[in-house]
Amino acid sequence: MLDDYYGNRANYGHSGLQREQNLDKKNFYLGTVVQVSSREVTIQIDNLSLLTHRLLRQSDLVPNTINYYVTIDSISGIYFGQVVQNRIPIGASREFLSDESHKEQVYAEATVDILGLEGAGDRSFRLPGFSRPGVTEKVYLANGPVIEHFVSSMELHIDEKDSPDESDDDNIPNSFARLSCFQNEALQLVSPQTLFDRHLMVVGTTNSGKSTTALSVLDWLVSAHKKVLLIDPTGEYEDSFTEDDKMEKLTLGSDTVVDSGSLSVLDWSMIFDCNENTQQGTLSDAIRSLRYQAKFRRFGPFIKQGRIITEVQNELSKVGKEDTSFDVNLLPEQITEEAVEEGKGVEKGKYTRSTFRINNYEWLREKILNQFDNTSFKKFFRNSRTNKNWKDLFSELDRFANKPKTSLYVNASHIGTTDGIGGMVVDLISNYLLNRPHKKGCAYVIFVDEVHRYAKRMTDQNSFYSGLTSIAREGRKKGIFLFLTTQNPNDVSPELLGQVGTLIIHRLTSARELGTIQNYVSDNTISQIMKLNQGEAILTSVNLLEDLSLSVRACGRPHKNDTPRL
Ligand SMILES: Nc1ncnc2c1ncn2[C@@H]1O[C@H](COP(=O)(O)OP(=O)(O)OP(=O)(O)O)[C@@H](O)[C@H]1O
Ligand SMILES: [Mg+2]
Repeated sequence: MLDDYYGNRANYGHSGLQREQNLDKKNFYLGTVVQVSSREVTIQIDNLSLLTHRLLRQSDLVPNTINYYVTIDSISGIYFGQVVQNRIPIGASREFLSDESHKEQVYAEATVDILGLEGAGDRSFRLPGFSRPGVTEKVYLANGPVIEHFVSSMELHIDEKDSPDESDDDNIPNSFARLSCFQNEALQLVSPQTLFDRHLMVVGTTNSGKSTTALSVLDWLVSAHKKVLLIDPTGEYEDSFTEDDKMEKLTLGSDTVVDSGSLSVLDWSMIFDCNENTQQGTLSDAIRSLRYQAKFRRFGPFIKQGRIITEVQNELSKVGKEDTSFDVNLLPEQITEEAVEEGKGVEKGKYTRSTFRINNYEWLREKILNQFDNTSFKKFFRNSRTNKNWKDLFSELDRFANKPKTSLYVNASHIGTTDGIGGMVVDLISNYLLNRPHKKGCAYVIFVDEVHRYAKRMTDQNSFYSGLTSIAREGRKKGIFLFLTTQNPNDVSPELLGQVGTLIIHRLTSARELGTIQNYVSDNTISQIMKLNQGEAILTSVNLLEDLSLSVRACGRPHKNDTPRL
């Protein structure tokens, strides 16, 4: 059965590995099993020269180290394992070892972690369960076809009609990464289903390669005609995709606006970060007054001071549910106008200025003014019907969500690159998408880079925006999958982190972050995470039986991520 992989299955597999010469399996021979325990298997390597780099393998797999794969030809089937320790007896002198003729006399010993078993009659590897190889069984270096077969067996939930992808064109990269033990060859690694059966998160310290990995994954998704919504608060991905990729582009505050009327009072209070009770009430009153002004086309703020209270209330009751638009620019002024109270004595029944309230409302007014001053934020809240060059963000989101195989890029950098604006835009979009009806067959991925910057509110560092968390919880049923990158997994809400099914882990160094990740990976993996280079990562997923070490293939699309050199 093992011979199948080393000889006859020349056309096995998807990638370049299949082109490897058909070499007899004796060229891959390593040694025999000498000890078996439930944890691991020890093999004796029959002669030291077997550990030398084998040129015929045309790859830099060196069997005198660790992390390479082996197969064991057993009566119960084929075992697949990874070498985790390698040693020769201590005490032999260097001179003795370097003499070619002595190599025959030294036995090396390797410890193998058994990862999978393909029993007779099985079509793929599965977890070994209680089975283990027997002593004296023969061990071989795993070749390309076996490894590829193993990796494809590791993926659960493969949807047959979806997996090799209805690629219309041959140039589609079949993966975004390769297994790191095979430097020269790409492997068909995982299907989009494996990564996005639940939400995907890329973690790593700054400069570890998160954004580069993200772009490679996006490139792979877009080439496979999957739908992607890229929310970009900093403009980093501005030039990465073009019309040719079926990716439409929106620039908030420039060609795309939102009508003030399409936001609820709650949305506004989130945007201005109102504290729960009093400020939200004041803002709500102010918006109501401005809606009245807009409905009856009056200029300026709504004046309450000096007017009869019942009259004012009568007027304001004419604002109906459908009268939602208002002029955002007037908000600060209107807040001041709201600072009135019922007069005393002759003024009874009339509104008079309340100094107490003026002082109280000042804080809210300042917040709003601040938001206006620092950004071209006001340009974002305009009515798209007043200028035919303006598109309405929500209609565009609807269009995207209903149209198969198209992607959308939302650039929010023109309305300000502060984290507060980014957070607001991400939250606005995610809440909108979650609450609209889902169209079948139009599942999509929402990508947000550096999400730790946009997950928390600016004013209250202990509270998280609700949009992303709600999508994490309920999005999957509606075909919305999150794809996030973050430096610190603790900076997203615990509920969100709990919903992440797949992690791509780049280098992490701080103990706190490693601690968070610990639940997701094996102990062996944790020690490797600190030593990863740029672009190297561990892939761990509820849909994979084993963690995989990846080298990410940078996709070469334009990406504004240069780190300036000092
Ligand atoms: N797979 C890769 N192959 C080659 N170079 C890479 C790879 N991944 C990252 N790099 C290089 O490493 C540098 C940092 O990568 P990147 O910007 O993706 O890191 P990051 O984790 O997103 O950092 P930041 O936290 O600053 O956003 C870039 O200059 C990039 O060219
Ligand atoms: Mg980055």
